[in-house]
Amino acid sequence: MSHEPLPVLITGASSGIGRAAVEYLAARDFQVYAGARDRGALEELSQIPNVTALRLDVTRPQEILAARQAIEAKGTGLFGLVNNAGITEAGPLMDVETDALRAQFEVNLFGVHAVTRTFFPLLHQSQGRIVMISSDSGFFATPFVGPYCASKFALEGYSDSLRRELTRHGVRVILIEPGCIATAIWDKARRNIDPEKYARSLFGKEALAVGRQALAKGQSAGLPPRAVAESIHLALTLAKPKLRYIVAKNSLEYKLLKILPGSYVDRLVHKKIDRALSLEKAG
Ligand SMILES: NC(=O)c1ccc[n+]([C@@H]2O[C@H](COP(=O)([O-])OP(=O)(O)OC[C@H]3O[C@@H](n4cnc5c(N)ncnc54)[C@H](OP(=O)(O)O)[C@@H]3O)[C@@H](O)[C@H]2O)c1
Repeated sequence: MSHEPLPVLITGASSGIGRAAVEYLAARDFQVYAGARDRGALEELSQIPNVTALRLDVTRPQEILAARQAIEAKGTGLFGLVNNAGITEAGPLMDVETDALRAQFEVNLFGVHAVTRTFFPLLHQSQGRIVMISSDSGFFATPFVGPYCASKFALEGYSDSLRRELTRHGVRVILIEPGCIATAIWDKARRNIDPEKYARSLFGKEALAVGRQALAKGQSAGLPPRAVAESIHLALTLAKPKLRYIVAKNSLEYKLLKILPGSYVDRLVHKKIDRALSLEKAG
């Protein structure tokens, strides 16, 4: 690799993992293009040394194209793309409107595809890398977070196909699978835990109990977003990066979940729902 700063684009850079990755990489010999939607966030990002802030909503083709043109105008090329922007739609699947499911995929999958296709020529030219911020929800589907899990499972399949197509052409695709990370995503998820929303739902009690437990855990026991930034750095710099990085306190538990029989795992999940319901009653 050359000693020139490596140019990398990070989507969803306004907060959480994206923001941590911007700061981590900008301090380590990267030229960072930070994509964000909010004007205040763009101004803040542009104050960080080695960072160029770009307006980038991943659901808006014009903004994606304008971001590519801005990078081309800088003449740096692009070595890395970190597809980080993401949202969470939750709720019992039988209560989720189809449009809400579409909105989930619009950002977490179709947005990734639109951005990746647009920047692929630059990444091919540099023989660069695409880093996908997936989730433990990309291989373990939790109840009452169905739309999000479905989008991340889809992202995993998309990334596996893409990797098998691109590796032979010199572009690596690496998946990062964070567990619970302490970011604003949990505050944003609070809107899903609305007793009124579930008042007439067959699944309301379970969904609320499980949602409250998950929220409490996410806010109090999540790893700092910098832990994910470190894995992104490895994915972009190691000569032979792994295909997947799990970033979690309990990665052994995840490995077990992948090999245990499905019916046994279902029983564990149901026990967890029962425990959440008991805690709810006791509290
Ligand atoms: N936190 C966790 O526990 C966890 C675990 C596993 C995976 N992840 C994944 O990590 C990624 C980052 O999430 P986070 O935890 O850092 O949450 P976050 O702080 O809420 O960050 C999400 C980012 O995505 C951006 N975004 C949302 N919709 C967008 C759109 N249409 N176009 C462009 N940007 C958009 C947000 O921008 P605005 O500020 O403009 O809304 C924000 O910058 C997501 O893909 C998430 O699924 C998180």
